[in-house]
Amino acid sequence: VLAVDLDEKTADIAPTMWGLFFEDINFAADGGLYAEMIKNYSFEFENPMMGWNRVEDHGAKGYVFNQNHEATGANHKYLRMQRLNEEGNFGLHNEGFRGMAVKEGLKYRLTFIAKVAKGDNLTVTAKLLNKDQVIGEGSVSGFNSQWAEYEIEMTAAETLDGVNFQILLEGKGELDVDMISMFPEDTWKGRERGLRKDLVQLLADMNPGFLRFPGGCIVEGFDLENRYQWKKTIGEMEDREVMKNRWNIEFAHRTTPDYYQSFGIGFFEYFQLSEDINAEPLPILSCGLACQFNTGEQVPIGALDQYVNDALDLIEFANGPVDSEWGAKRAEMGHPEPFDLKFIGVGNENWGPQYIERAKVFEKAIKAAYPEMTIVSTSGPFPEGREFEYLWGELRKMDAELVDEHYYRPPSWFLENASRYDDYDRNGPKVFAGEYAAHSTTVSEDFKRNNWEAAMSEAAFMTGLERNADIVRLASYAPLFAHVDGWQWNPDLIWFDNLRSYGTTNYHVQKLFSTNPGTAVVPITSAGESLAGEENLYASATIDENTNELIFKVVNTSPEPKEITIKLDGKYKGNGQGTWLEMANDDLEAYNSLDNPMAVSPKTRTFEVKKKTIQLTLNGQSVNVGKVKL
Ligand code: AHR
Repeated sequence: VLAVDLDEKTADIAPTMWGLFFEDINFAADGGLYAEMIKNYSFEFENPMMGWNRVEDHGAKGYVFNQNHEATGANHKYLRMQRLNEEGNFGLHNEGFRGMAVKEGLKYRLTFIAKVAKGDNLTVTAKLLNKDQVIGEGSVSGFNSQWAEYEIEMTAAETLDGVNFQILLEGKGELDVDMISMFPEDTWKGRERGLRKDLVQLLADMNPGFLRFPGGCIVEGFDLENRYQWKKTIGEMEDREVMKNRWNIEFAHRTTPDYYQSFGIGFFEYFQLSEDINAEPLPILSCGLACQFNTGEQVPIGALDQYVNDALDLIEFANGPVDSEWGAKRAEMGHPEPFDLKFIGVGNENWGPQYIERAKVFEKAIKAAYPEMTIVSTSGPFPEGREFEYLWGELRKMDAELVDEHYYRPPSWFLENASRYDDYDRNGPKVFAGEYAAHSTTVSEDFKRNNWEAAMSEAAFMTGLERNADIVRLASYAPLFAHVDGWQWNPDLIWFDNLRSYGTTNYHVQKLFSTNPGTAVVPITSAGESLAGEENLYASATIDENTNELIFKVVNTSPEPKEITIKLDGKYKGNGQGTWLEMANDDLEAYNSLDNPMAVSPKTRTFEVKKKTIQLTLNGQSVNVGKVKL
């Protein structure tokens, strides 16, 4: 028997409570959320021809040469296409991101810049091919000796994952080309060079309280030169310098040598996405320490200015007036209104005195200029132990506001830690559970599947986060996205290929919580105690003061069904009907996939409230969210 005291609100729930962690890992940005279809679109990879192949068939003859732009800027290289005869097909093929896909009836807009180096009457024809059969085509001509942008529009005659894309030169001569880019017309909100609609929709459907970006380890870089520098990610694409991705390494026995960052999603786009999905933007910046698992390179304390200024300028970029230096750049990019940034993170998974020393410098400068800004500090990669204790101790002394905790642990850890925050110091910093995921190694050490065991144990743990919403103000599963053919890290919340996407079992658990948050916590107890594992049950309850509803979440990790009775104490009319979202599965190994995306997903049921009492039979291995109007 559980009792809910409707009149005793123990904590308010921050509107930011359930949010998103985004990092460009697993092809999350290039090859994923960013709808660009061309890999190495401006020939800036270390091997400038990576992703490109020469097309030379039916007697065609020609060469391609990598050239350097004269002007120094972020766009260094271009390609010269030299065609020696007029027979056959000569040009380039781009392999896309682990292939390329098109959808029947959809328009594809190809843009590129070009100039003539030799010859006249040159034409560029682009083709979408299903083997040898053309399923989309378009041409453009009228090139001259000055760089200019050209455009070709093609409509795909069929849906195909594995389309062969070619850009061909017709006429004898030499054409210089660069920034060859192709987008489908159906981007999110129809924006040019925009985001993949299906992927943004999955995020929007979660009703996220915040969006943390751009990572993760990507923030820090292997070394400081390769850290994430937001100023290099805004403005025109030619000003965004392509960079090797931090996850272009051997990881989990996999390598992705073709993983680079075009920064097509840069800081403007992250802010815009946050606004679109109604999530508080939460940028994290380098604190002047490179990844401490790698080089651990440190900026001397006396030389931190550039790093600190990046933080101050970012706040101005987000919130400053249009006549401020950085506010003007935001306005130029089409957003004169401020983005209303409230949080800024300093460092990701850094530790030791070197972090604390740097965090203090940032804190002083940020608070002096923007006292209202909430600073997120990191507690390193460890959920416990010496480093963790040290950091928390120092952050407490500093009166830090929010501390980012990360835990990638086995499902059992999540169950055991459902009461982790019950005894946290209520007078110290608040918690941002910034990266977590239960890692089930039942498939293999390297392949940790998003199975029901992991998702259910996260749900049990999340009832603990919710019960302690006075101290835990934000939480996000990590990582967010993975391309089925381009991942480095698993498990991940959302998987996709070039055509399709799906939410994992874990996604549905996250969504159950984030779309049913409530505004205040009320106690749900058994014999006066919170439920955090007793008889394999885990529970939390909230009131939504806007809709006047009670929302209770009960997780039954036992394989056996459980009869429970919930007694409502306090102001309630007595009888009524409620809705109940249930996720349950007998098989802890059950999972969703591209072919079976909703295998483990919520079902809607109803229940009666009679004389202030709810009686439910919970299925074995189930996550249950009940809602009733008060
Ligand atoms: O989420 C993947 C990685 O895990 C993040 O980049 C890092 O912060 C953590 O170690």
